[in-house]
Amino acid sequence: MPNSATPQQRPFLGFGLGLRPDHYQDVLDIQPDVDWFEILSENYMVPGGKPLYFLDRIRERYPLVMHGVSLSIGGTDDLDQDYLNALTVLADRVQPRWVSDHLCWTGFNGTQLHDLMPLPYTDEAVEHVARRVRQVQDRLQRPFALENVSSYVTYGVSQMPEWAFLSAVAEEADCGILLDINNIYVSAFNHGFDPMEYIDAVPTERVYQFHLAGHTHAGSHIIDTHDAPVVDDVWALYAGAWKRFGPVSTMIERDDRIPPLAELLDELDRARAVVGFAGQVDALASA
Ligand SMILES: [Fe+2]
Repeated sequence: MPNSATPQQRPFLGFGLGLRPDHYQDVLDIQPDVDWFEILSENYMVPGGKPLYFLDRIRERYPLVMHGVSLSIGGTDDLDQDYLNALTVLADRVQPRWVSDHLCWTGFNGTQLHDLMPLPYTDEAVEHVARRVRQVQDRLQRPFALENVSSYVTYGVSQMPEWAFLSAVAEEADCGILLDINNIYVSAFNHGFDPMEYIDAVPTERVYQFHLAGHTHAGSHIIDTHDAPVVDDVWALYAGAWKRFGPVSTMIERDDRIPPLAELLDELDRARAVVGFAGQVDALASA
């Protein structure tokens, strides 16, 4: 598979979950009705140990994709070659359908902020990020996608809306998009734009994957906490996105206050119901 994937090459994996350590044993014991799992790359970039033990067993049963938080693709420090090497080693072990990280920056001058900071939406930033994505793709030799982050601030120098920036980076870098539906909803509320305008502007052939997650509503603004069920407005937005993009691999992303696996399976069933899915995942997905 080339670095980027056309719709024909981009498999529809079906309905998945983020793999979390709380559920390792349940996944092996129950073998739940989940089509695929997304793993957090950084959890497995260690030699040996419990996470890799479970990962090797779970990957024998389920297709996997890899999702990272440390690439800082929009940062101005050089890409961390040690990190990229470790990511490549892990990808060679996992054989993910694709690898993703966030369209953000996470540090400056060697200092890590441990937060996903938004970028200014400028032509210069498009060029900067696209150049770095091409370096990542050259190293990984696998399909790579960038996820839209939620944001709480804007930059005065921005020249375009977020959706135009995301689309321009994906086109310029020839990479995929991981569209987080909740993040669009959160940013739309915080900045006062129409979330469907965002969805309608993203190029359909670039979208590899959807994230669905919960958030915390603080009245004047929404915080992207990933610690609660998906809200009704986000389900409605997801239905709109499915209508525009067609079948896109969808997953529930819960990072905090992790509930029993059965609760997430119910939420995944709701995702199937919201889009009326009763079809098949691509044969390529289970190959
Ligand atoms: Fe996400």
